[in-house]
Amino acid sequence: MKNIVWSDVLSVAVDEIDEDHRKLLNIFNTLNHSVTTGESPDYLAAVLEELINCTVWHFSHEERLMLKHGYEGQKEHKAEHQELINTAKNLQKEILQADKPVSDKDIVFLERWLTEHILTADMRLGSYLSQMM
Ligand SMILES: [Fe+2]
Repeated sequence: MKNIVWSDVLSVAVDEIDEDHRKLLNIFNTLNHSVTTGESPDYLAAVLEELINCTVWHFSHEERLMLKHGYEGQKEHKAEHQELINTAKNLQKEILQADKPVSDKDIVFLERWLTEHILTADMRLGSYLSQMM
């Protein structure tokens, strides 16, 4: 599986959000690399934990910006965040319970999990914030 390479396509035009997204991509790439090199399920779950924790933190960052700048779509955006966290936690639970390695399918799923939200909901938020900030 190829790494996700940062490019302007992923930029939401707000530096502090782009910075967080870059960090998340880096952790995703670490996970991807760990799968390729055959790290243990425990190790993979730990990288996933890092990715989830960083995402939770990042989502609160975005949610604070939405509040500060009176973003109208905040309810829907927050709901999407909650759903994303739940799906990642479920995947982590499966991996830990079944003591199974992260599969290529999981990686493809996580890649989509990460990029689709950036390319849709975060783009809308970014274009709003870049006018307000
Ligand atoms: Fe978001």
